[in-house]
Amino acid sequence: MAMDTSLNRTAVNAEVAPVRPGEFSPLLLGPLSVWPPMVLAPMAGVTDSPFRTVCRDFAAAGVSPNSPHVPGIFVNQMITARGLVEGHEKTLKLAEFAPGESPRSMQLYGTDPSYLAKAVELLVAQEHVDHIDLNFGCPVPKVTRHGGGGALPFRRPLFARVIGAVVEAAAGRVPITVKFRMGIDDDHLTHLDAGRIAEDQGAAAVALHARTVEQLYGGEARWAAIAELKEHVTTIPVLGNGDIWEAHDAIRMLRATGADGVVVGRGCLGRPWLFEQIARLFEGGELGAQPSLGDVVATMRRHARLACDWTGSERALRAFRKHATWYLTGFPVGGAVRDRVHRVDSLDGLDAIVAELDPDLRLPVDALRTPRSHKGGPKPVALPPGWLDDPDCDLALSEEADAVTSGG
Ligand SMILES: Cc1cc2nc3c(=O)[nH]c(=O)nc-3n(C[C@H](O)[C@H](O)[C@H](O)COP(=O)(O)O)c2cc1C
Repeated sequence: MAMDTSLNRTAVNAEVAPVRPGEFSPLLLGPLSVWPPMVLAPMAGVTDSPFRTVCRDFAAAGVSPNSPHVPGIFVNQMITARGLVEGHEKTLKLAEFAPGESPRSMQLYGTDPSYLAKAVELLVAQEHVDHIDLNFGCPVPKVTRHGGGGALPFRRPLFARVIGAVVEAAAGRVPITVKFRMGIDDDHLTHLDAGRIAEDQGAAAVALHARTVEQLYGGEARWAAIAELKEHVTTIPVLGNGDIWEAHDAIRMLRATGADGVVVGRGCLGRPWLFEQIARLFEGGELGAQPSLGDVVATMRRHARLACDWTGSERALRAFRKHATWYLTGFPVGGAVRDRVHRVDSLDGLDAIVAELDPDLRLPVDALRTPRSHKGGPKPVALPPGWLDDPDCDLALSEEADAVTSGG
């Protein structure tokens, strides 16, 4: 991707110094040695095979072709253990990887240890994955009100049983990582307990989304909690997640927290080249200008074509519209263009819209930090009656706690 050499960072990152040789180390997840130590956050409805392909290709462009390491982990969107075990057609489609995708990383959701264990046994027996992440951050009321998602780590025995069952089912053949939030709310923080339990149960790493469930996606991620977790969990890597909007945020987060890697969520929506930029910084390089709108459009068109190929139909463009909107976020293209993008239903139609755009437009630097996708919160957390009375209560949850289709 063409970039000029002018500095192009927002004020918050103006002073971040280049990475010194040896300052950071590859992230070790079981047999995987990951450098740069960056992870695409699992995002339901977003991190499907086409989007991962685009992100992975940018990441690979930012490192030496002879690198012995895996250039980042790109996690598939959340898959429900039940959907997998019961063989739901839609779940199996979502669980697909791109040809040649390596490593194959998948996030599982579930609350029933036996279902999760069955799902992992299947995945391992079919050699379908190289890494499994477990999702304990989902804030969707439909599941938290039954004790699932982000509510579950509060009940320590069940949390431990779920992780233990999955680690046992994986039998050392794939690393298991665990992703959670800081807790239910500021009066019920659980990240330190959750980290210790995951470590004790044999997880290969933990990732902290440094917000509470109550916070949802609002406010700033509290990186101090990542630093606290890093001090507490000493035998496995700790990954930090929250508010990596521009490449220098990744360096700043690792320096501020001592974390072993960064997990990039909304910052890469409509900006998948963020992985190339992060990689260049970890390799000791500097950042040039942000891509021009012409570069962005080229990426958008490629992504749209991959999406149509993946589903075998231009109907994929309906789901792609949100990506198209994110690609244009921050560029002064006007409301009429955005409206047409919202209704795009063919590749020719998309090409016609973008052909009218000025390819030399540059993204205003402050637009780097404009949130895309979720931004709501805070909001009170729906919980089962009495949920907070006893963190050591070891009751199983009802099936409704598993009934999630999206979210983290
Ligand atoms: C559209 C969307 C879907 C998400 N889905 C999941 C998910 O399925 N599993 C999960 O663990 N987190 C999910 N998340 C949360 C992200 O993985 C990440 O933790 C969160 O966005 C915070 O990182 P950020 O501040 O860099 O965006 C989702 C976030 C978004 C925006």
